Amino acid sequence: MKLWLISDVHLDSHPKNLELWGLLAKQALRDKPDILVVAGDVCERLDVLHEGLKIFNALEALKIYIPGNHDLWCRQESQVDSLKKLEKLLPDVVQANGWHWLSQNPIVMGDYYLVGSAAWYDYSLMPEGHPFQTEDFAKKQRGSRQWMDGKWCHFPDQSSETVDFWLRDRFYQELYTDLSRCPFGKKILLFTHFPFYKELLNFTHKDWDFEYFGAFMGSSYYRSLLREFPVTLHGCGHLHRVCDFVSEEGTRVVMAPIGYLKEWGTDSAEVRLQNVLMRLDLE
Ligand SMILES: [Fe+2]
Ligand SMILES: [Fe+2]
Repeated sequence: MKLWLISDVHLDSHPKNLELWGLLAKQALRDKPDILVVAGDVCERLDVLHEGLKIFNALEALKIYIPGNHDLWCRQESQVDSLKKLEKLLPDVVQANGWHWLSQNPIVMGDYYLVGSAAWYDYSLMPEGHPFQTEDFAKKQRGSRQWMDGKWCHFPDQSSETVDFWLRDRFYQELYTDLSRCPFGKKILLFTHFPFYKELLNFTHKDWDFEYFGAFMGSSYYRSLLREFPVTLHGCGHLHRVCDFVSEEGTRVVMAPIGYLKEWGTDSAEVRLQNVLMRLDLE
C-alpha cells in the first residue's frame, strides 16, 4: 500500500507554494498513491482551502486532511472563530471536497488503522533549566517577536493562560478514544500536525529570547499514547524540518514539510516537492 505524506504546504504564503500543490496533484494522479495525508498548515482561509482541495477531485486515493495551527487562524475572515473552524467549518470544507477528516473519525484501510488530530503545544518541549514561567509562555511574545497564534487564533471563553492546556487536553482525549478503538490485529498509523519529540529540538541554552519559541513546537505529553498503544508510524509537521527516525517507543516518525519559499534552498517548486514528499510503501 502506497502512502504519501506532506505537511505545511502554506498555500497562501507564495504563488510557488500553490504551484507545488498543483504539481503534487498531477504526480498523485500519475503515480496513484492509495493514501495521501496532508498533516496541517494548508492555508488560513476557508475559500483558499476549498479551491486547493478541489484540485485533487480526480484522485481516487483516501485523501486525509489534518488541521494545523495556521488553518485555525481567523485573521482574514469575519464572523469566524477558531473553535467554529475546528468543529464545523473546516470539516465541512474537507468533506465537501471528498477528503477525509480523520480526527474522531478513524478509518481502517487494509491492515492499517488510521488515527489523527491537530494535537497542540503546552511548552513541554522546552529543555530543563529554561528561565521562563508559564505566564511568560501565555503571553506568546518575547521582546519584539510574537508567536502569531496568540493574535490570530481565537477560542471563545478561553483565557490566554489556559487555552493551550485546554486544547492539548481536548486533542489528547480525542486521540485516546480513537486509539483505544483500534480493531484487533490492525497496525496503527497516527497523524498529527504538532510533533511530540524533544529530541528534534536543538537548544543551545544561550539565546533564550530566541529559544523561548520552542515552547510552541509541540508537546511531549502525547508520548504516553505511544507507550500505551503500539503506533507503527507517526507522521507529523509544524517544524518545517524533514525527518525520518525511530523513537524510543519503537514508532517510526516521519515529517515532510513544504514550508516557506525562503526555507526551500531552491526556487523550483518541482525540486522542493521531490526533495520533501514522503512516499512510503507499507506492507
Ligand atoms: Fe507550518
Ligand atoms: Fe504549524
